[in-house]
Amino acid sequence: MKILLIGYMGSGKSTIGKNLSKIVGIPFYDLDEIIEQQENTSIKNIFKTKGEIYFRKIEHQMLHDFHRNNNSYILALGGGTPCYANNHFLLQEEEEVKSFYLKGSIATLINRLKNEKAKRPLLNNIPEEELSEYIAKHLFDRNYYYQQAKKTITIDNKTVNEIALEINKELA
Ligand code: S3P
Repeated sequence: MKILLIGYMGSGKSTIGKNLSKIVGIPFYDLDEIIEQQENTSIKNIFKTKGEIYFRKIEHQMLHDFHRNNNSYILALGGGTPCYANNHFLLQEEEEVKSFYLKGSIATLINRLKNEKAKRPLLNNIPEEELSEYIAKHLFDRNYYYQQAKKTITIDNKTVNEIALEINKELA
């Protein structure tokens, strides 16, 4: 089984993926971490030194290489992964692919992201007072791609464990 977790930054893809991995016994991977290992530097540094276009290119390559070379996995994609280079087609692939959109409300995401701006290259330069509007617009732009997941799971007011159990139920 190939489980893909998608959602905006701060939606908890990695934390939920790790928890789900314990429940279903399928190994968890994080695409951002795979990229960081391959490039031997942080995502933040890749954006800074080589730019977003380069990042989107290797993100696409590494996603497809990983998918081809692994038979059973839980993979957290980056928040933007489904929105570039036709990566969203992967979400709809054959039966063995189970894709989940971890959907948070704008309020939940803003709340989680407002203190983490520095870690995130796309939010880094957005002034505090413009953050809400930026996230709302960005989510609107990305909505089409996120909706390509086979299932949507809302995350607001739920614990990590509750969400992982909900995903597990969908796998049965
Ligand atoms: C991005 C999200 C990040 C990372 C990169 C770009 C995005 O991943 O891939 O900073 O475009 O939303 P997370 O969603 O895991 O933070």
